[in-house]
Amino acid sequence: MARKKIALIGAGNIGGTLAHLAALKGLGDIVLFDVVEGIPQGKALDLSQCGPVEGFDSQITGSNDYADIAGADVIIVTAGVARKPGMSRDDLLGINLKVMKAVGEGIKNNAPDAFVICITNPLDAMVWALREFSGLPHNKVVGMAGVLDSSRFSHFLADEFKVSIKDVTSFVLGGHGDTMVPVIEYSTVSGIPIPDLIAMGRSTQERIDAIVQRTRSGGGEIVGLLKTGSAFYAPATSGIAMAEAYLGDQKRVLPCAAYVEGKYGVDGLYVGVPVVIGAGGVEEIIEIALSDEAKANLQVSVDAVKELLVACRGIDNSLA
Ligand code: APR
Repeated sequence: MARKKIALIGAGNIGGTLAHLAALKGLGDIVLFDVVEGIPQGKALDLSQCGPVEGFDSQITGSNDYADIAGADVIIVTAGVARKPGMSRDDLLGINLKVMKAVGEGIKNNAPDAFVICITNPLDAMVWALREFSGLPHNKVVGMAGVLDSSRFSHFLADEFKVSIKDVTSFVLGGHGDTMVPVIEYSTVSGIPIPDLIAMGRSTQERIDAIVQRTRSGGGEIVGLLKTGSAFYAPATSGIAMAEAYLGDQKRVLPCAAYVEGKYGVDGLYVGVPVVIGAGGVEEIIEIALSDEAKANLQVSVDAVKELLVACRGIDNSLA
């Protein structure tokens, strides 16, 4: 069987980390694409020289030509600009929308059968625009946010309860912004829901509320510390988990920005919901029962995503 091909559009901080992880995990051959000449080639050469030490056989190449992504099985998009301190994800909209147009056309013309994972922010609007520009089926274009947001939430919860991260599952729905919805009823330690753990005296509502808030602004906390850009290790790790689910037909249940039509009262937009990822791409959207409070919070998040789509349409009138 031929090796799988992974194309990474954007060879910046996340792109480089994605390439490193994909090679270490033996996911296939890797093409790093970027508009800047030299960066993808240089990173590809550096990463290739990890091969003899790590013992991986992945061919890693750098390119500035979309023709080189032809035949890609998975494409992960991080092209665009990242946040600096004081910026919200939404501040990136105008510039990254133009980038999504170029990337979408590159994918449409060269790798229309790929499974595409978008990481570029503001995520829920950019994944929608990328799908529109590429014309790929909705189940083959998905956004990475919920895996990262849940991972951040789980990290803070494991710290709070002083338990292994292996025993924590957490759940974050909605848009990848300040309005995201960490759902505590579905977040557990070894199956014990957080509200039960609070009732058992293992934490307090106030402490969990603070963790929820820290999760919501988790990306901003890192931007504030780094000062020169945004988080990249955990975003890349999260994107790779989604790629592995597709390549291995794992049927993983992961929170992702998926195209929702009908479920959760959402009509035709991308927003973070639990989905099944397997060889068919996004194979199913799972609709879970939500408390009235979670429902109301999800609606606020959906409305925020809708506003971004209005802004996108205002900038590019080819977006119907
Ligand atoms: N086509 C391809 N690559 C592009 C394009 C384009 N039209 N425009 C910019 N790029 C490249 C840049 O040259 C840069 O190498 O995208 C890369 C982005 O890398 P970084 O600036 O290091 O940003 P990174 O931290 O990787 O984040 C990328 O993901 O999480 C989001 O908010 C983040 O939108 C940002 C994106």
